[in-house]
Amino acid sequence: MQNIAILCSGGDVSGMNPALKHFVEYTLQHRLIPYFIYDGYEGLIDNKIERASYCDVSGIINRGGTKIGSARSKRFMQKKYRDIAKQNLDALNIKMLVVLGGDGSFKGLDIFYKESGIKFCAIPATIDNDINGTDYSLGVDTALNIIKISIDAIRDTASSFKRAFVIETMGRDCGYLALVSHLTSGSELCLIPEKEYNLESYEASFKEQIKNGRRYFIAIVSEGIKEDSTEIAQWFEKKLGIESRVSILGHIQRGGNPTIYDRLMAYKFITYAIDGLLKNIDESVICYTKKGFVYKSIQEVVSSPKKMDPNLLSLL
Ligand code: F6P
Repeated sequence: MQNIAILCSGGDVSGMNPALKHFVEYTLQHRLIPYFIYDGYEGLIDNKIERASYCDVSGIINRGGTKIGSARSKRFMQKKYRDIAKQNLDALNIKMLVVLGGDGSFKGLDIFYKESGIKFCAIPATIDNDINGTDYSLGVDTALNIIKISIDAIRDTASSFKRAFVIETMGRDCGYLALVSHLTSGSELCLIPEKEYNLESYEASFKEQIKNGRRYFIAIVSEGIKEDSTEIAQWFEKKLGIESRVSILGHIQRGGNPTIYDRLMAYKFITYAIDGLLKNIDESVICYTKKGFVYKSIQEVVSSPKKMDPNLLSLL
């Protein structure tokens, strides 16, 4: 019997809990012994590692967040703490690790493998969908659905009052959430870091629309754009003479009941991750691409920033 552990790192996503559930079930089916590492790499350093069983994962498939906690760890970037992490894993004879997180969470892993020989498979999990090499990261679909519900609700009040609403989505430097939400919610304006924009270019057309009876505007802006959302709202007030409000969706986008798509992707990511480790694919990221699931090296994934799909971008 071999021991295998899982941890969540960085921003949590809806889909981590379904992944934990399948991790326990699939490892036990394969006569592996599953362990949970609580609170990401911080917990790995602080030895918060416990054996997991079916009981730990019952009733969590419908819950957002992660039952085992997550963290952003600066300490794991330092060798002295990685050495402690290795000792903690050695003490429990854990030789395989599954890590759910964003590319920031993957960076220390490669070094850790070289120093410790602990095999790993990383699973892309971030609402930002900004990981190079994978078309999909766990949690994106749930986040998009939460944003959809929020925009639909804001539309009701925007239309009642004749107002412009500037809705800010998360995504760090990546405008994926904003762009997809714009295309699927019928908003009037979308501003993302990947595309240069000039607000003046919208002015004449928006004024014309108001003249023709438009009662409200919805603008979806990504948190990574050069201006503050309040500045965009001020533009609506000053240039178009329409009362404006800002709605920063914030962390609401990271929670909520995981969608069917994220539950299924969690299932698949975990299956491929464990299969890969059992086939001695020792240090990989399991990526979802047009060719299906592909094991890629950390270097390939973290060496360059993800570029937005040009076909999607061309729709803006
Ligand atoms: O990476 C996920 C993310 O939610 C980003 O979209 C956002 O910029 C950031 O994390 C927020 O981080 P925190 O939860 O630490 O405030």
